[in-house]
Amino acid sequence: MRGSFTYCNPTKLYFGKNALKNLAGELEKYGPNVQLIYGGGSIKKNGIYDEVVEVLTACGKTIVEDGGVMPNPTVDKLREGVQIARDHNVDLLLAVGGGSCCDYAKAVSVSVNCDDDPWEKYYVRFEEPDCDIVPVGCVLTMVGTGSEMNGGAVITNHETKQKIGHVFGTEVMPKFTVLNPVYTLSLPHYQMVAGIYDIFNHICEQYFSGADDNVSDYLSEGLMRSLIHSSRIANEDPQDYEARSNIMWTATWALNTLLSRAKTTDWMVHMLGQAAGAHTDATHGMTLAAVSLPYYRYLIQSAAGEDAGPTGEACIAKFARFATEVWKVSPDGRSEEELAYAGLEALENWMKELGLVMNLTELGASEDMVEGIADSTIILKGGYKVLTREEVADILRQSL
Ligand code: NZQ
Ligand code: ZN
Repeated sequence: MRGSFTYCNPTKLYFGKNALKNLAGELEKYGPNVQLIYGGGSIKKNGIYDEVVEVLTACGKTIVEDGGVMPNPTVDKLREGVQIARDHNVDLLLAVGGGSCCDYAKAVSVSVNCDDDPWEKYYVRFEEPDCDIVPVGCVLTMVGTGSEMNGGAVITNHETKQKIGHVFGTEVMPKFTVLNPVYTLSLPHYQMVAGIYDIFNHICEQYFSGADDNVSDYLSEGLMRSLIHSSRIANEDPQDYEARSNIMWTATWALNTLLSRAKTTDWMVHMLGQAAGAHTDATHGMTLAAVSLPYYRYLIQSAAGEDAGPTGEACIAKFARFATEVWKVSPDGRSEEELAYAGLEALENWMKELGLVMNLTELGASEDMVEGIADSTIILKGGYKVLTREEVADILRQSL
């Protein structure tokens, strides 16, 4: 590693089948008014709502209901949540759900005591919070985003056709998260595999960049191998507790700020996927699955070109390493470039095995939407190639 860094992750995690028993101890630390944040109703069907309400009631809390957080939470819903928190003088935001509820809770937390409009302040001007932050706790029911132990809060604005993530600092990260793998067993297969791919891609976004020898890449390879292994078991038998608990723990480590220490990171798959999501409202993990292979193939193709230089060499070397270390592709008789492509072929086969959606057309995008999605795509500079606006549009076309 060549860089210097500070590392602190303040989120306390309670993991396992009985993890909810720790909720009461956490609740003691906060005032009486708890905003109970949840989604479209899955927690009422699978009983998690009742379990959480029982603890809140036993602890003497006043429950302020805030249900109906949609997947890809919107700025309108965010403004509504902020108003609820203000009206009830809320002491704790308790998100019970997936990344959408956790992200939403964080976005509310930094906006309650702030006069500015949250979209303008955090998602247009990218300012940091300068007001009192209401604490957030999570009970996770959907695995994938890593939101349970990070500062990310992704909000969608349908009016401006933007889906943007603000990564807040440690003060906004959840104070605690309850991780009970049993809670994820009621997820539909579609959501389970979308979450698995989201985890995998979070690791890729931090792996496919840089040329230095970094411990992060070895950690990433281990996490990817564990995830591939457990995903195959879970795909065959979604009720396999051991596989689902491994997947849950991998998701947390894939995006809790550890892997990105002293590394440049890419995140262009997410930028492309989020832009597609802003136009289609499709499931996050599926948007990533649809754009990944065209993007990665384009990277290798560009890196193999004559003018690619040292960055191109590092790119091919990393994709070749991905093939041998993650997918165990034999290097025998293959050039480095062939190995790089072979790794992507292995990735593609696994994605198909899981039943992921592999193109944007199935997610509701069409040729006439490409330019608009390209306009919504934020171009980042940390990966092996800085794309032009035209290259973004080409990759999106190949993803249809
Ligand atoms: O709304 P309900 O009825 O609860 O249903 C949800 C929702 O339809 C359902 N679900 C959740 N737990 C369930 C369940 N169904 C049955 N049983 C359960 N136990 O699953 C659906 C998806 O939930 P959602 O929270 O939207 O999924 P996810 O966790 O993938 O979160 C997606 C959001 O997180 C953002 C995404 O962009 C998207 O907006 N992300 C956040 C990140 C972060 N904080 O760092 C990073 C990610 O890259 C991502 O961008
Ligand atoms: Zn993601």
